[in-house]
Amino acid sequence: MSTQKFAKIVSTGSYVPEKVLTNKDLSKLVDTTDEWITTRTGIKERRIATSEQSTSDLATQAAEKALSSASLDATDLDLIIVATITPNTFTPSTACYVQANLGAKNAVAFDISAACSGFIFAMDMARNFIENGTYDHVLIIGAEKLSTFVNWEDRNTCVLFGDGAGAAVISATNDSSSRILSSHIGSDGTYTDLLKIEGGGSACPITTSNVDDKLNTLSMQGKEIFKLAVHHMKTAANQVIEDANLTPSDIDWVIPHQANLRIIDAISSRLDIDSDKVFVNLDKYGNTSAAAVAIALDEAHRQGIEREQHVVLVAFGAGLTWGAAAIRW
Ligand code: ACO
Repeated sequence: MSTQKFAKIVSTGSYVPEKVLTNKDLSKLVDTTDEWITTRTGIKERRIATSEQSTSDLATQAAEKALSSASLDATDLDLIIVATITPNTFTPSTACYVQANLGAKNAVAFDISAACSGFIFAMDMARNFIENGTYDHVLIIGAEKLSTFVNWEDRNTCVLFGDGAGAAVISATNDSSSRILSSHIGSDGTYTDLLKIEGGGSACPITTSNVDDKLNTLSMQGKEIFKLAVHHMKTAANQVIEDANLTPSDIDWVIPHQANLRIIDAISSRLDIDSDKVFVNLDKYGNTSAAAVAIALDEAHRQGIEREQHVVLVAFGAGLTWGAAAIRW
């Protein structure tokens, strides 16, 4: 058998908070309707964490499920990467809180900030660390408590986002038949203004007037992002399909970022992949940023991704960032 190491997704897990916020509930907060939200986005409801739950709590719940299905002990983990734009604190990293919660005392732990593409960025890093022989067991998590950073008076954004977390354990294998075949990530910092949480960092520290102006909440230019999202997700997905020596007809599952059903439909038609192969759960959770692909992957896995089926993950987010991965399950 070859001594080359490959990266295999051995398990997944996810967690969403119990509280459901429906479109009808939102229509009591801002000037919107279930009809507008459904037809423009496909979202019907989203989950909202309690005031006691932090991002690391959501992440830990998802991670415990993934670890238990991997039949691994937390002490077996070499690395924990948490992808989030809603960390518990600027420092320490959310991954360090998760490490302590899990008792993963042998793991290195750090966060990455790549917005909705974060889980795929983490997967790409895990794959590289495993293939170059640095680590054998990597836990990657996408976790967000976006409800803390949403402006609940802005109908342009508050209807879109929700809270949740998803995780995957990626381990080294010598078996090339079931593994991450290819991954690709990218960024374009010339569009930083399109989607941001402006206040609270070094460029715009927290002041009373900044908070009064809601600069500590998410702002977005949705129309511009929509077009760029379709372009970059299509290009990234095509790239990983080609790098894996596959064609679109080989793909059994596409698991895209869950931001907007119209974006997802546009991508599936541009990739020439049937929409019944494209996994959608944004109706239940809205856009959970870095958690979205992670939760969708776990739900698709539990719905029945079969061994040796081909899965493409693809996402796009603030930064701008984008990423995709092709997997033979
Ligand atoms: N209810 C009712 N009307 C609304 C609402 C609402 N919730 N929100 C906006 N409108 C109004 C607008 O005010 C506008 O009215 P006007 O024409 O009188 O000015 C009208 O609806 C149309 O607004 P648009 O912005 O043109 O609507 P659009 O069809 O572009 O849909 C949306 C908006 C859903 C935000 C879409 O542009 C989108 O999904 N963009 C991509 C978002 C995304 O993918 N983000 C990804 C990354 S997220 C991350 O990284 C954290």
